[in-house]
Amino acid sequence: MKEIILNTVVKVCTYDELSAADTQLVDAAREAAKKSYAPYSRFNVGAAVLLDSGEIVTGSNQENAAYPSGLCAERTTLFCAGAQHPDKAVEAIAIAARTADGEIETPISPCGACRQVMLETEMRSSRPMRIILYGAQQCHIIEGGTKELLPLSFGAEFLENV
Ligand code: THU
Repeated sequence: MKEIILNTVVKVCTYDELSAADTQLVDAAREAAKKSYAPYSRFNVGAAVLLDSGEIVTGSNQENAAYPSGLCAERTTLFCAGAQHPDKAVEAIAIAARTADGEIETPISPCGACRQVMLETEMRSSRPMRIILYGAQQCHIIEGGTKELLPLSFGAEFLENV
């Protein structure tokens, strides 16, 4: 039997080691986390996307008393960017989170549903996005795009011959 080995490359660095462009995007995500509406989980997440026009779109998680009606920061942001700028590619996304104790120390990673939306966003523009995950002690950078986080994924190609 053959095996498929899946490799994900994650660069680890501190906030101070980020490039100026990544710092700007991360800071936008950190600010967005402060605008999160998360009265149920009290887990505030912010996201910021950099478009190929240079514009930055931000968003945060938006919860609801009917829990499944809420939405993660990443999808709120990507859908907002897609709705406002349908023809612009997303070059990068930064994600940051905080609780009542302040900013989290190690970065969170997008949930499966958000990864699926990130993948579709990349498909629309044929361009992988740079993913920057912020933590106060440590940041993670994924340069290879969403396939690094969501290998063996389902995409539009499976629907082509239906
Ligand atoms: N959440 C996000 O917004 N992004 C993530 O990457 C993980 C989880 C939100 C969903 C919910 O509002 C809260 O964080 C707790 O799961």
